[in-house]
Amino acid sequence: MGGVIIKLGGALITDKDQIHTFRPEALMPLASILSEMASEGRRVTIVHGAGSFGHIEAKQAGLAGGYDPARETEQTQAVDSVRASMINLNGMVLDILREHGIDCQTHPPREWAKGTGSTFTGDIGRFETPGKVHVTFGDVVDVDGDMRFGILSGDHLMERLALEAEDMDMAVFLLNGIDGLYDKDPKDPDARLIREYNSEASYTTTLDSDKDVTGGMALKVDVSKRISSSGPKVVFVNGLDMENMRRLFAGEEFTGTVFKRAKSHE
Ligand code: IPE
Repeated sequence: MGGVIIKLGGALITDKDQIHTFRPEALMPLASILSEMASEGRRVTIVHGAGSFGHIEAKQAGLAGGYDPARETEQTQAVDSVRASMINLNGMVLDILREHGIDCQTHPPREWAKGTGSTFTGDIGRFETPGKVHVTFGDVVDVDGDMRFGILSGDHLMERLALEAEDMDMAVFLLNGIDGLYDKDPKDPDARLIREYNSEASYTTTLDSDKDVTGGMALKVDVSKRISSSGPKVVFVNGLDMENMRRLFAGEEFTGTVFKRAKSHE
């Protein structure tokens, strides 16, 4: 059985509008599914986002744009503060996973990754230790040159891990309360779920650019196109619909958006 890599979106595991607000109730039922998968011998890797533990403060201090000499003191404090918040969030995620019997190993990107976007550097081999559920997350990382630091999104970690880790079967993005990509705003009653994404399909994103320092839905779609064109298939599903997720992981019919693996890799 190949590996599965799962992104727990920051909007799912936190309340994006309330600073530092974790949603354990969203993670707990999921942790039972992940625990079952791991105990059946499935290789599971988890990447989580930041939500209100990262975006709000990072946005205020302009951290995504890197070092600004005019804001040095403010930015230095914000880098430390966002990093501390992310360790706090990661700790709460790990506690729930461990309470469900999952043997986790965490990899804070600041300790091993440098640079932002899909070309960040760092040894991805650390995610290969067998028998563990490896966990990482979007983080403030060091960047070479004048930029000094920046935000490495969990979506870019998904891309590199899905493509470079051995024998990946599927990359899954868990969304907050929506079933996948829609052709119109999902709140519009005429909106239709795009069940199979191909690059021609046009979708509508509900990215809130006021709050998000990474790329919201548009970044997920870009990353997913790249993953599925040379690696495993990608699936977007509702992270709050447990029955549907069980069906997905059991290989049954499910509701969601699939980015199919390129034909040459079938
Ligand atoms: C962002 O990571 C990291 C920080 C803002 C520190 P992500 O881009 O993976 O986070 P979400 O899923 O959008 O919250």
